[in-house]
Amino acid sequence: MTQITSIIDGKPVTGGRRVASTNPANLAEVVAEVVEGDADTFAAAAASAKRAQQAWADIPAPVRGRAIAHIGRVVEANAEALARLVTRDIGKPYAEALGEVREIVDTCDFFLGEGRRLYGQTVPSEMPDKQLFTFRNPVGTVAVITAGNFPVAVPSWYIVPALLAGNTIVWKPAEYSPAASAAFHELFVRGGGLPDGVFNVVYADGPATFTGLEQALEARHIDKVGFTGSSAVGKLIGELTGRHLQTACLELGGKNPLVVTPSADLDLAVEGALFSGFGTAGQRCTSLGTVIVHESVHDDFLARFTKAVENAVVGDPAGDVLMGPLLDQKFADRYEEYLSWVQPHHTVHGATGRITADNARAGVSGDASNGLFYHPVIVDGVRPGDAIFDEETFGPMVGVTTYSTLDEALELANAPGYGLSSSIYTNDPKEAFTFRRRISAGMVSINNSTSGAEAHLPFGGNGKSGNGSRQSGMWVLDQFTRWQSMNWDYSGKLQKAQMDVVELEPDLDVRLGE
Ligand code: UN1
Repeated sequence: MTQITSIIDGKPVTGGRRVASTNPANLAEVVAEVVEGDADTFAAAAASAKRAQQAWADIPAPVRGRAIAHIGRVVEANAEALARLVTRDIGKPYAEALGEVREIVDTCDFFLGEGRRLYGQTVPSEMPDKQLFTFRNPVGTVAVITAGNFPVAVPSWYIVPALLAGNTIVWKPAEYSPAASAAFHELFVRGGGLPDGVFNVVYADGPATFTGLEQALEARHIDKVGFTGSSAVGKLIGELTGRHLQTACLELGGKNPLVVTPSADLDLAVEGALFSGFGTAGQRCTSLGTVIVHESVHDDFLARFTKAVENAVVGDPAGDVLMGPLLDQKFADRYEEYLSWVQPHHTVHGATGRITADNARAGVSGDASNGLFYHPVIVDGVRPGDAIFDEETFGPMVGVTTYSTLDEALELANAPGYGLSSSIYTNDPKEAFTFRRRISAGMVSINNSTSGAEAHLPFGGNGKSGNGSRQSGMWVLDQFTRWQSMNWDYSGKLQKAQMDVVELEPDLDVRLGE
């Protein structure tokens, strides 16, 4: 069986608690045994990254860009093998897992050229014989702490630009996706030819990681934190980094609305709702939370949506299915709690709970009783004040509510206080642009689902979804670089800014025709 250990300074860390990680589609199958580190392991990895950082930053950016190019090619050459590990670790359907691996390649393709840009500016001075410049400097050492629902794509959104910009890394992946994480680390380090200490990986649970991070921040071995996970943990990380005058890059939960207007193409809206509601078993941060449908098309939309969910194939994620199992037992337990939030005024469409012989689902592919497979659920009649409406319900559950005016739809869409992704189905440009302007979300889809962001547009949220940081494309460079300004006076004398500046004599009283 594969044994997975933390790697610090290029060396495996062998001592620690051993934990078996299982395949959520078949709990009897142990995917890997993980040797978990503790807080000191995390702190040691941060110290290693600190030691390696200056030499990494001294390598010219175009050469670091070449390393990113090589990583992209190596990931591409191993795409199927890596996607299979993602499917085994977390039960993500294989086609989606391949798409996830593609996001790493896309991210590398974007940033390989950035090594030859990483532009600064030359800026005119207000004085002669003096020149001003700006430079992007690496922030230093970065702690990247990621969730397991996107065990390889989301880490790459942090790690690729951070490395390119001259930072070194400590990565703490999710405990329940160790095989894919170890493969990702190996492809990056070996494929990129990264020197020891530039990219360390630590397997540890949440509390050990938090304590290790506290120690590393105290020792000034971590300069930046990137975190993808729940809003609750995001707040703790925001507080901790704030005490060290740092702003973390936070990518948190969502309660993503999808508005269906009277002019919408209903079949297209159903297709979007199905994919974003139940793809990755509803466990994306961009997953659909609530459909907000105009009262005039509610019955028609709901009839088509329930039929689509009924017909969807749930089952073995190695095959062609809409939905596999939940990620891990912890997520299954939490999802069962969300199911208990159903109230008497709700109408539940479809069976609920775990799929078993006694609680069967037609058309399941493979043997569902061995894994964490759940019925996909639509809950109609949700409203503000209901937990199902207000809170993120990570898992295969979609709420439905109605509206009568666009103002009301926007109020409902913004009510939960998250602000990650959003969507409107309409054929009216005025409605589309009004929605864009007034929705609180960082990401807006018109006639497309809430999921499936492309890897070179700004990704991130507002409110409970994050602190305004953005990942991806050129925007993420502001997370992993700091602007430095430089002035160079070659006049040979002290020229004082604002004081020794020549002023031309204006005639401000000039008027035409006088
Ligand atoms: C996440 O769930 O943390 O836009 C990221 C999407 C994916 C990424 C989701 N490309 O749905």
